[in-house]
Amino acid sequence: MRTVRDTVRPRTKGKTKPRSGRKPGIASFRRYVRLADGTKVTLRPIRPSDAAAERAFIEHLSPQSRYQRFFGPMQEVSDAAIAAFTQVDFSRAMALVATTKTPDGEIQIGVARYHIVPGTRCGEFAIVVADEWHGKGVARRLLKALMAAGRKHHRLKALVGEALSDNVRMIGLARALDFTIDTAPQDARLVRLRRKL
Ligand SMILES: CC(C)(COP(=O)(O)OP(=O)(O)OC[C@H]1O[C@@H](n2cnc3c(N)ncnc32)[C@H](O)[C@@H]1OP(=O)(O)O)[C@@H](O)C(=O)NCCC(=O)NCCS
Repeated sequence: MRTVRDTVRPRTKGKTKPRSGRKPGIASFRRYVRLADGTKVTLRPIRPSDAAAERAFIEHLSPQSRYQRFFGPMQEVSDAAIAAFTQVDFSRAMALVATTKTPDGEIQIGVARYHIVPGTRCGEFAIVVADEWHGKGVARRLLKALMAAGRKHHRLKALVGEALSDNVRMIGLARALDFTIDTAPQDARLVRLRRKL
């Protein structure tokens, strides 16, 4: 989604510090789920070592999925973009990947993320699933996990996002998860999605 800014954690800072208070640590957001077709899928926070998998995932997306995710063709995926996507500052953002095992090793099949809109308790989200995995329930599980992480880790009150108004899959998913769907005031090509947490 165009407006989602991914925050980069400087490499020198090392691992995420343990969180204080009642906030669960990032590692607690790892989940194992099974799709209706029996496929085992891991949902977990993204990490810097996912850079190669994230690049392969984005480069493998169809032009339509790229367009729907980034609101543009995004022909070249720069190293800086991959770093921003994988070196997440979990104090201000969340990013969960869906992975599964194949005979060739573990692959990324989806990713959902939000950043906290500064000064609010609202997360702005984006999600994308590999084309050959569409329609299997990956996004539904990822988005529900993202909503739970927003509630528990950042105490968010709402998730918001934008989608192209002809994106029937995303609008169907939003409807299935009880998001409200409104025309975006600043851009008629878009709908604004919102879900209280
Ligand atoms: C939108 C997207 C994330 C959905 O991923 P997905 O894994 O195929 O979605 P799911 O299989 O989990 O479907 C979840 C629900 O969405 C709805 N849905 C899915 N496909 C649909 C379609 N073609 N028409 C209407 N509703 C649909 C259904 O309610 C579905 O639930 P159900 O399977 O129980 O009926 C995926 O199509 C995608 O990656 N698109 C490109 C990127 C994008 O559009 N991102 C959104 C803007 S950031």
